Amino acid sequence: MPSLRLAGAAVRDAVFEDLRARTAASGLKPGLAVILVGDDPASQAYVRSKGKACESLGFHHVTHRLPADTAEPELLALIGRLNRDPEIHGVLVQIPLPPHLSAERVQGAVDPAKDVDGLHPENLGRLLAGADGIVPCTPLGVSVLLAHHGIDVAGRHVAVVGRSVIVGRPLAMLLSRKGAGGDATVTLCHSRTPDLPAVVSGCDVVVAALGSPGFLDRRHVARGAVVVDVGINRVDDPGAEKGHRLVGDVAPEALDGWAAAYTPVPGGIGLMTIAMLMRNTYEAAARRAARA
Ligand code: GUN
Repeated sequence: MPSLRLAGAAVRDAVFEDLRARTAASGLKPGLAVILVGDDPASQAYVRSKGKACESLGFHHVTHRLPADTAEPELLALIGRLNRDPEIHGVLVQIPLPPHLSAERVQGAVDPAKDVDGLHPENLGRLLAGADGIVPCTPLGVSVLLAHHGIDVAGRHVAVVGRSVIVGRPLAMLLSRKGAGGDATVTLCHSRTPDLPAVVSGCDVVVAALGSPGFLDRRHVARGAVVVDVGINRVDDPGAEKGHRLVGDVAPEALDGWAAAYTPVPGGIGLMTIAMLMRNTYEAAARRAARA
């Protein structure tokens, strides 16, 4: 049985078209600042895609590339300047950060109104409380992609595998909250969950967000389940042009021909994360204009 491929490109394109129209109609020039500390190759690639997305939408954007040994006070001072910069509506600090920097302190230094990543404790708290706030991009992207394909999680049992602050925990909040896009029963699983295959295979929807290539297989995924693969893992591939390729957290055997629907890697949730970052940036600019 062929499975429905939940590709992100068409949804990303629709989000971009909507943002172009809203930007033109409002006369706003949304501005995004991205900070990259160190030279992690995957982070460099993500940061380049964010810049390209801004360019394609006509957004103002700046990327601050800092050396891996940047001291925390210097990074915090830069964030302070961006918080005060009227041309900047979104500030994103690419993670992971080098180990001597505290992600908690750094994320906490971003003005919550400019926290387009949705990772400031105030925005995470708002999500937990069911209040309006900026929602982290990847969880929001999962929710928008499912809605676009008419997959309603209400009343269904969802396994979220992975408890990161950036994906697993906020996604569990989003899918279980009251109202549209929510009302799911969510089991948040992780590496210490006993008998993971038994827990996950009892669910209608499986979200894999562990960052471990092919970690989930047919033992975990019930036949006919919906699989959302958030993992983007680089694995060596001497046959590939760049010497590596991208794979998800779910083994191919549990996707096409097994799941009812699945998100591909690459070309699935990764595109949605960027689309939601652009939407969060536009909306931060619009809120700022409404306050002025
Ligand atoms: N690293 C990988 N994904 C993300 C993201 O969505 N935001 C930030 N800040 N860093 C990331």
